[in-house]
Amino acid sequence: MCPPAHFSISYSINPWMDPAKPVDPQLAHAQWDDLRRTYLSLGHEVELLDPEPDLPDMVFAANGATVIDGRVFSARFAYPQRAGEAPAQRRWFRAHGYTDIGLPQHVNEGEGDFTVAGPYLLAGRGFRSSPDSHAEAQEFFGRPAIGLDLIDPRYYHLDTALCVLDDGPSPDVMYYPDAFSPGSRSVLAALFPDALIASREDAEAFGLNAVSDGKHVLLPQAAVGLFTPLRARGYEPIALDLTELLKGGGSVKCCTQELRGRPPEPPAPPG
Ligand code: ARG
Repeated sequence: MCPPAHFSISYSINPWMDPAKPVDPQLAHAQWDDLRRTYLSLGHEVELLDPEPDLPDMVFAANGATVIDGRVFSARFAYPQRAGEAPAQRRWFRAHGYTDIGLPQHVNEGEGDFTVAGPYLLAGRGFRSSPDSHAEAQEFFGRPAIGLDLIDPRYYHLDTALCVLDDGPSPDVMYYPDAFSPGSRSVLAALFPDALIASREDAEAFGLNAVSDGKHVLLPQAAVGLFTPLRARGYEPIALDLTELLKGGGSVKCCTQELRGRPPEPPAPPG
């Protein structure tokens, strides 16, 4: 996670961002810190990335890389305003012992568009990540990338329209079908016939921009329609208020990059 110390709406690169609606920095920090403390209270570790003054979207740490099995596939941002976040994250990873860091040739916005569901790498495209980045990520991770076409600019990243609830051998997901092209909807229906289908209201409340550890599901409190169906599936939904972050077009998931797997142990010194 990256503290929203320099978070602001000074440009607009998605339909949620309106520079005429400024952010309350104290409230943004309090809401973000509530998310951080919630992870800690659930027993999760939280690593922090240093915020940089010229990168107001850096709080959306999910977008800077994708990490699976301790291997890092770096991002390459679509807009110049965020370009500096990718090298900033690579510096963090190198400083924390990650040695296998892939540099992409094509645009991809990290976990904004990539997520893991069982054996698959689900991969969004249409607004930010290029289709060519899916092939690159498939090659890097050696996992089949399932390309999913996003068609509504309000759901410009995959993680605004789909959340993996359980990433085990028979993965469980929730998603908002109207964010996807007809063909991608069919792909999702074939892969996840029992998925939890979100309503328009819950998608608009950024309810799919959630993080699940397989038991607890952290999601925006305004996504009221998701709480009962999540409980019915055996999850424990945890409501968060991240309305200041929503002004930037992000919520729980955007503020959270998942570190899947540890970096390799350094070789033991000789002798
Ligand atoms: N303002 C940021 C952008 O438009 C928000 C990114 C939200 N992150 C996410 N994972 N969807 O790039």
